[in-house]
Amino acid sequence: MSWTPSSWRDFPIKQQPTYQDKEQLKKVEEKLNSYPPLIFAGEARRLKEKLAAAGRGEAFLLQGGDCAESFSEFNTKSIKNLFKLMLQMNMVLMYSTGKPVIKVGRIAGQFAKPRSSDFEEIDGVKLPSYRGDIINGIEFDKDARIPNPDNMIQAYNQAASTLNLLRAFSRGGLADLNKVHQWNLEFIKDNPLGKKYNELSVKIDRSMKFMAACGLTSDIVPQLHQTTLYTSHEALLLNYEEALTRKDSETGDYYDCSAHMLWIGDRTRDLNEAHIEYFRGIKNPIGCKVGPTMGEDELIELIDALNPDNEEGRLNLIVRMGASKIAEAFPPLLKKVRDAGKNVVWTIDPMHGNVEKSSTGFKTRNFDNILSEVEQFFNIHKEMGTVAAGIHLEMTGNDVTECTGSTSCAITDEGLASRYHTQCDPRLNASQALELSFMLSDTITES
Ligand code: PEP
Ligand code: CO
Repeated sequence: MSWTPSSWRDFPIKQQPTYQDKEQLKKVEEKLNSYPPLIFAGEARRLKEKLAAAGRGEAFLLQGGDCAESFSEFNTKSIKNLFKLMLQMNMVLMYSTGKPVIKVGRIAGQFAKPRSSDFEEIDGVKLPSYRGDIINGIEFDKDARIPNPDNMIQAYNQAASTLNLLRAFSRGGLADLNKVHQWNLEFIKDNPLGKKYNELSVKIDRSMKFMAACGLTSDIVPQLHQTTLYTSHEALLLNYEEALTRKDSETGDYYDCSAHMLWIGDRTRDLNEAHIEYFRGIKNPIGCKVGPTMGEDELIELIDALNPDNEEGRLNLIVRMGASKIAEAFPPLLKKVRDAGKNVVWTIDPMHGNVEKSSTGFKTRNFDNILSEVEQFFNIHKEMGTVAAGIHLEMTGNDVTECTGSTSCAITDEGLASRYHTQCDPRLNASQALELSFMLSDTITES
């Protein structure tokens, strides 16, 4: 049972690239291993404490961002828009729940993608699938699809500068609660949702003035002018994760210092395989996707493997069953975990079980199905007397057209073509994500 950052190498593993140049791979791993950590163990411990509160129903977890970050779409505007969107959703949810909202981005490392097929075929030409920019190129071209170890260095550098900007936004004034109006994004300012958000900002402004009159200004209460956005990604490419694993000098424990929180995907969560082995040894807060094929006993074994001490805030189970399956598949799992007295943080990913093909040929998701899965998740918890601790979304602060529906932008199958930019799965645009937050607030306030 002894664990090292590389012990996963002795286990079967899925969804990995086959690197041709093993020498170069080794060089890159060594280089990454010598680079500075992207996050610190103390930060990961603080997030774990906050997640423990979410698991008890005292805080709410908002996790979201791109399906896959990309090298070509790396720019300030996208990072800033996502940051502003998270702040807006944070306000909406905080105002309705009266609880602190823990903000965790799918950002600064969300590069590697599991694929349903190892190959992609177009017009009789068959090439290895695109596995995310950290591994190979998206172009349908023989050379681009060869896994290149150097991509890991570029991913690390992009993650480092993304994190640098996020830290500056968090501390440098953008997150000041006196600026809630300014978080409204240009393209939603004038639609009904932008207006609804504005009404909320007016109320928050009034509370800020009231507090200032009481002497509580942002000069003396730092929480009023700064925030924390934690980072997370699917730790799929274990070569990268191992290279960024560090022993904490304070506790002697190992942390994956590539992000504050890491999760295991639904396709790589097999009990006796490499991902479970790697995850059991790191002390970060971790997540695991729970899809419709998860068995009751399997889930208990998985919890015991990943959280043997039943520590609060350690394990986030991210349910992603699909709107048509959750009512049947989720309650037995929830009951089993509840009755076994396991401490887990339950959240809902209403994206990955609701993928469909539009009549115009796009991979899409319908807003009604997304909303329905979220609502069912919250209602099931209510009936079971357990805690629905948050949501996990694929979303962007940009004005894209990737998911259909919603009242605020009503994207049709035909409308998808206009700004369909995702590298991988369809994301909610800012308007749709904000609309979901308002509707979720109503669900939460009603219950
Ligand atoms: C993802 O979160 O991007 C993903 C691939 O999810 P899942 O493992 O649930 O399919
Ligand atoms: Co995805």
